This record gives sequence, structure tokens and C-alpha cells, in this order.
Amino acid sequence: MKVAVYDTKSYDRRFLEASEAGGGKVEWVFHEFRLAADTARSAEGAEAVCVFVNDRLDRACLEILAEAGVRHVALRCAGFNNVDVEAGAELGLRFTRVPAYSPHAVAEHSVALLLTLNRKIHRAYNRVREQNFSLGGLVGFDLHGKTVGIIGTGKIGRVAAEIFIGFGCRVLAHDKYPDEDWAKAHGIDYTSFEALLAESHVVSLYVPLLPATQYLLNADTLAKTRSGVVIVNTSRGKLIDTTALIDGLKSGRIGGVALDVYEEEEGVFFEDLSDAVVQDDELIRLIGFPNVLVTAHQAFLTTEALSKIAEVTRENIIRLATGKKPVEETEVQQG
Ligand code: NAI
Repeated sequence: MKVAVYDTKSYDRRFLEASEAGGGKVEWVFHEFRLAADTARSAEGAEAVCVFVNDRLDRACLEILAEAGVRHVALRCAGFNNVDVEAGAELGLRFTRVPAYSPHAVAEHSVALLLTLNRKIHRAYNRVREQNFSLGGLVGFDLHGKTVGIIGTGKIGRVAAEIFIGFGCRVLAHDKYPDEDWAKAHGIDYTSFEALLAESHVVSLYVPLLPATQYLLNADTLAKTRSGVVIVNTSRGKLIDTTALIDGLKSGRIGGVALDVYEEEEGVFFEDLSDAVVQDDELIRLIGFPNVLVTAHQAFLTTEALSKIAEVTRENIIRLATGKKPVEETEVQQG
């Protein structure tokens, strides 16, 4: 069976092709461009499409896919905020995702970002390469003894919280559905969103992007944070109002920002724009701050995560094509 893969990078191709060794009969058709209404006709003849975070599957796109004979949309990622699932269901499309490929990959990246930013490893690395062995401007702080606020204690947030406990941090957590047993077992305290903001030296986000979480950190809520707070976001860009974040950095209220996601990342992240004039002034402003560190949505990029993503995606494509149920908990449900 034919599967059209969109926004393909070299690692997607490598891991999806390698997953075939497991016995699947999938003919991958790799496209480097993204899937959206204006490119959806390229899926003609494919039973399934395989998409990533920046493909835009709105109603118009899904209508074209359904018309082209596509029955299944396999998201090779966890988040699905870029998909109009309701419209797809009306059109008889099925959606699967990979909800838990490696929470460790993402949690560890968020910690790596925080440590790099705080201990200024990125600046030190560049200096040493220029034979500048001075230490001026490289002062960080001990994480040990600091309060880290974890917003969202799902799969990734829990791994991150446990890592911070290992560092000797006090961990405060906030979640819509707290798991008190887990918290108690690890010496973690659940608290209100406001109390977490007020007390935490570091606030790290691990919630999905939903209407309720869009701009969770905005001018009002950022004003409630501890002065000098370090914000970490490896979840979704739109959890933070970038304009308010920049204002907080300019005023000095925010002490540091580490991001793997950005609200306007579509069309920028994952691309080599080194010869282009980037039009997004807020992104350029952000990366210009000495106390901001940005990676381009790479938290998932480990061998373990990519293997699992490819394996589950292939398995679901074959299962749905042969009338079987998808892998447990991978079907994206409406609402
Ligand atoms: P999860 O579904 O296991 O956990 C999310 C947690 O957020 C749940 O405990 C839920 O109760 C909580 N939550 C939902 N709405 C809330 C609200 N309004 N207030 C407080 N808590 C709320 O998700 P998981 O696997 O931990 O992933 C978290 C996010 O990380 C994903 O949604 C995705 O956006 C992002 N992600 C980023 C990656 C990257 O490469 N940067 C890779 C994978 C995921």
C-alpha cells in the first residue's frame, strides 16, 4: 500500500524505511513539502498520509484528502493541534498519533536546555573555540535547592520532575488532574497555578496546546512569576504569548528563557534559512537576547524516539489498512 509522507527530513526517511525491516508492506512516497490544502492533491493514490507537527490539516485539506481516496492520517508526533479532527471524522478519516514515543527524549532536552542556559555552556563553547578562556559573564546558579515548577505532570512532565528531584530541587507541580500518589512517592507537591508561579525559580511547561492552555503564560500570568524566573518550554509555542515574554525579558523580570518551540515556528523551524532574510521580528528579537536559548523543535530527536515513532506509525498504517484496531491509545479521538 502507498503512503504519502510529508515534511520529510533525512531522519524520517531513514527510520521509516528501517521500520519496514519488521515485515510491513508499505510503499513510502516521501515529499519534502508540507501537507496543506494547496498540496493535498499530491496524496492521490495513497491510502494513508503520514504527517508531522507543521502540516496543516484543516477542513479544506481533509476534504481534498478524502476525495483523493485517503482513509488514514498517521501523525508521526504526539500533538495534534494542527488537525481538524472533527472535520476529518465527518469525512470518514481515521487519525492515529504516537502519544508516547520517548518521554525521556523530551524531558531530558528540557533539562539540557535549562542547564545550558543557566551555566552558559553555549557561550563558553564558542569562546573556547576562539581561544578565549575568560570566565566573565558566565556565572550561573546551582539548581540544587531551587524550586522548579512543573506545569503538566503527564508522561513528559513526570520524567522531568523526577530528574529535578535527582538534582536536589524542590519540585512544585500543577496539573488539571493531579496524581497525588505519584507526587507523594517522589516528594513532589501539587499546588495552584498561581502559587507555582509565585514560588518557582524555574517554570517548565509540559501541557498540550488546547484552547484552555493557549497563552497560559501571558502578560498577566508572567507578572505573577518570581522575579528573575527562568521559563522553559518544550511543549508548544502558543502556550506562551511571545510579545509578553519579550516585554518580561526587556524589563528584567524574566531572568532567562529556554525554548524548543515557538508560536510562529511553522515554516521556520526545521528549515535552513541561513541565507534568507527572516521576516519574523519577534523571533529575531528573542534569539538576540543573551539570556535566551532556542532550539528548533528537536526535543524528540533521539534514536530511541525516532525508532519508536517509525515502528508505531508503520504498525498503525498496516493495521488500519487490514481492518484491525490501531495500537492501543494511538487513535486520535474527536473532542
Ligand atoms: P500528556 O498528555 O501525557 O500530559 C499532559 C498533561 O497536561 C496531563 O497530565 C494533563 O492532565 C495536563 N493538562 C492538560 N490541560 C491542562 C491544563 N489546562 N492545566 C493543567 N494541566 C493540564 O502529554 P505528554 O506526552 O507529557 O506531552 C506534553 C506535551 O509535550 C505534548 O502535548 C506536546 O505538545 C509536547 N511535545 C513536544 C515535543 C518536542 O519535540 N518538543 C515532543 C513530544 C511532545
